[in-house]
Amino acid sequence: MRIFSSLLLLALAALPAAAQTQTQALAQGRAVAEAWCANCHVVGSGSRTGSDAAPSFASIAQHRPNASALRIWLSQRHKDVMPNYALSRDEVDTVVAYILSLRQ
Ligand code: HEC
Repeated sequence: MRIFSSLLLLALAALPAAAQTQTQALAQGRAVAEAWCANCHVVGSGSRTGSDAAPSFASIAQHRPNASALRIWLSQRHKDVMPNYALSRDEVDTVVAYILSLRQ
């Protein structure tokens, strides 16, 4: 019984933590985007950078709302289009989550 109630407490404690983690992941993804992508892409609603050549992240979210397709894009080379990034897996995951969060 005692073990059960401690497990229950643990599970309850984990719930808000999961929501918090999601918020943090999006904030981190936005930071990655501002640092590495904003030169070419409009990365968010308040962002003034970007260029005509690169689609805005909001439009990418609209037209390619697929996390694995985005991950694959980011792990491939795009010579002459996008620089080659050495993004960590974590950074790729958070920036993809951030892009998809812009979907309306
Ligand atoms: C040097 C400019 C440049 C930078 C920096 C850049 N991109 Fe791009 N990106 C482009 C261009 C140009 C395209 C359009 C390529 C095409 O359509 O062939 C593109 C396309 C994409 C696409 C595919 C869009 C689609 O419709 O399939 C994704 C996803 C993407 N960029 C994500 C990123 C992310 C994430 C970063 C930052 C880590 C980044 N880009 C940084 C220029 C850039």
